[in-house]
Amino acid sequence: MEILMVGSGGREHTLIRKLKESNKVTKIYCAPGNGGISKDAECVNISAMDIDNMVKFAKEKNIDLVFVAPDDPLAAGMVDAMENAGIRTFGPKANAAIIESSKVFSKNLMKKYNIPTAKYEVFNNSQNAINYIKNNNEFPIVIKADGLALGKGVIIAQNLDEAVNAVNTIMEDKKFGASGNNIVVEEFLTGPEVSVLAFTDGNCVKPMVSSKDHKRAYDNDEGLNTGGMGTISPNPYYTDEIAEICQRTIFEPTIKAMNNEGRTFKGCLYFGLMITPKGVKVIEYNARFGDPETQVVLPRLKTDLVDIIEAVIDGNLSEINIEWSTDSCACVVMASGGYPESYKKGIEIFGLDENGQIEGATVYHAGTVFKDGKFLTNGGRVLGVTACDSTLGGALKKAYNAVNKINFENAHYRKDIGKTK
Ligand code: AMP
Ligand code: GLY
Repeated sequence: MEILMVGSGGREHTLIRKLKESNKVTKIYCAPGNGGISKDAECVNISAMDIDNMVKFAKEKNIDLVFVAPDDPLAAGMVDAMENAGIRTFGPKANAAIIESSKVFSKNLMKKYNIPTAKYEVFNNSQNAINYIKNNNEFPIVIKADGLALGKGVIIAQNLDEAVNAVNTIMEDKKFGASGNNIVVEEFLTGPEVSVLAFTDGNCVKPMVSSKDHKRAYDNDEGLNTGGMGTISPNPYYTDEIAEICQRTIFEPTIKAMNNEGRTFKGCLYFGLMITPKGVKVIEYNARFGDPETQVVLPRLKTDLVDIIEAVIDGNLSEINIEWSTDSCACVVMASGGYPESYKKGIEIFGLDENGQIEGATVYHAGTVFKDGKFLTNGGRVLGVTACDSTLGGALKKAYNAVNKINFENAHYRKDIGKTK
């Protein structure tokens, strides 16, 4: 089987490494890929958003399976275009990917189908939003741009001034472009967060092992929100009892709701959950594998990923038994100094071998290029240094040992991944 992976981050590198374990796979292409991915797959210079050329390439090469990993091409309809061209593809169609690409859609879906989530109001006018926030007079309050914003379109305002600023930045200054034409203003919730990725064929939903992301840039959850600075799996807060409640009150109802709306979701659905004092609530849905959640979840998968992907596409996921290792896994993200704001690129990375790896851990490349025999930084999140062990402490130790042997100018990473308060 020849596979085309669409995307270029640590998530895609992890997926490719897992797919390579399958004896059904003979060749993997990745478009556009990155420096580390080029050691595991043939990188193709097509942008992840270039749907026409991606379909053309898949047809020319007679690709057996396309895997669309990032949110933007899913929202833009890459899966629809591939399927129209007769190519088997993993991922939701655009009409289902909207569960991530419009927060207004997902909040209204949850309200309509009684899926537990924070209370909210939707606004298409900044003055109405500000009047509502003034009258409501409860802080902190959460302000979210409707559309995709690289994980940065959520602002937690501590007081009225910050809230007014947030509304104006999103709706008037259009910091996130058209994503901010509408906003969701919602109740601030508290409690530990859990990420649960789930395979679904549109009928059956099979959650993967849980994980915990560390979204803030600095230790002790300080600094700006990022795409994710590190992860652990399993998530220590996610007990079997909570998992059972989620299956019954969140996972299955969401799949049914999407079917009812004529938007059957097939692929990987990501549930961003918060365990609040009033029960588990959905913070957000993503229409794809999480990054860097994938880096700690997939290494624990024992079943052939190709078999699962085929079952999702063919609609017989219920017939497959998915097995997981009981190990713990930890991923520490090494980022460029300055991320998630501005940062330099093209800095040489020291400590990796010729395959971009290091002994004792697996290095999933996120923002790197391989040039003249050297790995250089090429993005905000650069590497996801990952290790598994029979205990979480052991996994963290291995991951940090490896991190300490890798360096590049202004490298930044959190020292407290895996710590729980
Ligand atoms: P999102 O992009 O929707 O995942 O939001 C990013 C982060 O903002 C989440 O991971 C939470 O930490 C935080 N967040 C979002 N919504 C809320 C809420 N209603 N209450 C508290 N924190 C929130
Ligand atoms: N790590 C969060 C996400 O992938 O959206």
